Amino acid sequence: KCFPKFDNCFQRKLGINTAASRTDRLIKKDEVEPKNGRKTFYTVEEERIEQAQRSVLISCPAKTNEKKFLKYLSRHGDINKYFFYESYGMYAVVEFVHKESLTSLLNGTAIPCINHEATMPFKSRLLSLRNTGSVDQSAPQCQSQTTIPINDLIQRLSNENSIDHQITSLTEMYQLTEENVCLRYLVCSLLKDIAAAYFPECKIRPFGSSVNGFGKLGCDLDMFLDLDDISGRNVKKPKAGLSLEYQTKRAASERAATQSILSVIGECVDQFGPGCVGVQKILQARCPLVRFAHQPSGFQCDLTANNRVAMKSSELLYLYGELDHRVRCLVFSVRCWARAHSITSSIPGAWITNFSLTVMVLFFLQRRTVPILPTLDHLKDLAGPLDKCVIEGNDCTFVSDFTKIPLRDNTETLEQLLQEFFEFYGTFAFSRMSINIRKGREQSKSEVSPLNIQNPFDAALNVSKNVNGTQLERFVGLCRESAWMLQQREFNVPHSQTRAATRDRAPWGLAALLLPSVSQAAGVKVRKNRKREPASERIKSLLESLKNRDDKTTGNGTGG
Ligand code: CTP
Ligand code: MG
Repeated sequence: KCFPKFDNCFQRKLGINTAASRTDRLIKKDEVEPKNGRKTFYTVEEERIEQAQRSVLISCPAKTNEKKFLKYLSRHGDINKYFFYESYGMYAVVEFVHKESLTSLLNGTAIPCINHEATMPFKSRLLSLRNTGSVDQSAPQCQSQTTIPINDLIQRLSNENSIDHQITSLTEMYQLTEENVCLRYLVCSLLKDIAAAYFPECKIRPFGSSVNGFGKLGCDLDMFLDLDDISGRNVKKPKAGLSLEYQTKRAASERAATQSILSVIGECVDQFGPGCVGVQKILQARCPLVRFAHQPSGFQCDLTANNRVAMKSSELLYLYGELDHRVRCLVFSVRCWARAHSITSSIPGAWITNFSLTVMVLFFLQRRTVPILPTLDHLKDLAGPLDKCVIEGNDCTFVSDFTKIPLRDNTETLEQLLQEFFEFYGTFAFSRMSINIRKGREQSKSEVSPLNIQNPFDAALNVSKNVNGTQLERFVGLCRESAWMLQQREFNVPHSQTRAATRDRAPWGLAALLLPSVSQAAGVKVRKNRKREPASERIKSLLESLKNRDDKTTGNGTGG
């Protein structure tokens, strides 16, 4: 009755016969797809965008009978995947096998009837499930979209048996889940429907940590409004003879055009975007953006336009993260450690950002005696003709095909790498040198900022320009203390005794490094030696003596 267009003929077309067979064909929600393996960044992106176009987001009453819900929806066609999650109420993400199923579903969806207010007549794929029948007693199992609290994490890590296991376990707990990634692409797809009111050919593509492999549950959703296909940038010169072209309005500059576009899209999101709240247009920033919260997903969203270099750096980070499993593990551990000590912050300011920290880890891995990662220049040399890319005069070419990248045989363990990361940056000549992953070696600094990390695609830009001397000193001090702690037996081996009441182990290894204050964790030693010299001075000389010893034996520095 509700869906007059839904007839037997349509059912046959979609191969639906009975309720039982429909449910059989569903992929169970806890069946996780195989990891994306080593597909190129753009292959993954294309697949995800296409999946999102076949998906719908539904707010459900807390007590929703899963079976009945699926049976109801699969009248419109086979469901490929679904899951439930909580964010200001319960929601379901449902991905159909065919896009046509969505058309059928939306055709049968009612406009809400509201008495005292008016509705904005904008239809989207964000729906609400109403149940006017008998109240369901069961509630479906929800997928978590948030990270484990830090104290629980510390406890879980303390119960692991090696630092290597701690590092991989932290990565598994913090990384984005398959479901969270689907939700991110779906939010972009919903937003695209809004932007398409003005620009039907546009794409909204996630970038940054949502797609570069280093995203943590709860990280923001960076989006890029891609109008390249209609920007006039990639057009070929017309052949001789007649041809037509569109008449367009002109803007004073690319920046002015971007500001106008974001201004109207921001307005549209604010006025008509269901679930989009707190819309702020930050159009005077170096990179103009529209910021808002997407309530149904719980994501903090940043929408930019004309930001193709950032898209390219997301691709580069993705590539580096896929080259060796130790890369992501180390980045997750360092980022978590930095957050635990307020080296990074969710509030903008003079803090080191996650992006800067990631580049620092990549640089460190390029600087190993046997490098774990190739330099960007090397990746450029390996590029094929299709990889060629120049953005605003900057050559952003690098190889996309993993099979073309030879890797060196480095067998260092995660524990060794974490230890050496802290030593490397605990003794790095920040005052004189900049970090450059294109060359894979430090270079003389050409500007005065305390921390200089060159943008891989524009050497003149410093990605950590915002960092002040105090924040850099805190980072260096904590690196030294952490390096020192990892060398102490009482911190680098699991405690044999468990705490009587909980049977949990006292924090050790990586877990000890995450305690609110590293020096607090190192309490006994630091206090005993306090009269002699400050902790970081002591650690610095300890590191220096180690470096001298290594220099004597190998003729190399410890930092690689
Ligand atoms: N970016 C950049 N230069 C900067 C800051 C950011 O090129 N100075 C680009 C990077 O590609 C980065 C993306 O913009 O990945 C998004 O920035 P941001 O949200 O700050 O970093 P994320 O990598 O997304 O990390 P987080 O999890 O903290 O959001
Ligand atoms: Mg981000």
